[in-house]
Amino acid sequence: MNGKLDSYLESFITDRNELFTEMERYADLNHVPIMEITGINTLCQLLRLQNPKRILEIGTAIGYSALRMADTIEQVEIITIERDEERYERAIHYLGRSPYGQRVKVIKGDALDQSVIDEVHSFGPYDAIFIDAAKGQYQKFFNEFTASLNEQGCVYTDNVLFKGLVLEDEDLIEKKNLRNLVKKIKHYNQWLMQHEEFITTILPVGDGLAVSIKR
Ligand SMILES: C[S@@+](CC[C@H](N)C(=O)[O-])C[C@H]1O[C@@H](n2cnc3c(N)ncnc32)[C@H](O)[C@@H]1O
Repeated sequence: MNGKLDSYLESFITDRNELFTEMERYADLNHVPIMEITGINTLCQLLRLQNPKRILEIGTAIGYSALRMADTIEQVEIITIERDEERYERAIHYLGRSPYGQRVKVIKGDALDQSVIDEVHSFGPYDAIFIDAAKGQYQKFFNEFTASLNEQGCVYTDNVLFKGLVLEDEDLIEKKNLRNLVKKIKHYNQWLMQHEEFITTILPVGDGLAVSIKR
């Protein structure tokens, strides 16, 4: 998001293992939108401070962020949801190759399907919820899944600055899909920042990471 600054910060981050590097390459080659390096590193650092026992992730993709979190926090259990068949299969493949894979459970399906919602709640409560799926649905994810958030829990939402597009006047964005997404993210940010039960800070790292805790 910050161009040169991001590259500068990324230049310090060289300690990923081979599997993670391979996953990053796969994501790049196959246009899978995994979290930006500075974003996932910030998230992992916040998790070290928080030391959660169980994390819910909405949006597995190929399992990159789930495995990064499992690698960071000893013994943490991760429940993660993915609706895309091919990405789900790829995530299962990488989990099988990772020493932390057994601590990650992938639920295949749409996070807003009632059967998935019921399954997610049955595995709760969660110490952390990481929202990284369809941007137009962030508010629904937040509302649905914070019901299973512990009192001391934390919600992390990625992409809230959406490559800086939140600064634009959305009416000037030509592509309708993009215009609508920008509107939805701006609306989510407004809503989240004024939430009566949560206090939120937006960190301008990666693609923008919102960190929300209960008031
Ligand atoms: C940005 S990617 C997740 C990246 C992943 N967290 C990482 O950093 O490695 C978002 C993923 O969420 C999935 N997704 C989007 N909306 C979803 C929904 N409603 N239910 C389940 N998965 C969803 C997409 O298929 C996509 O693979």
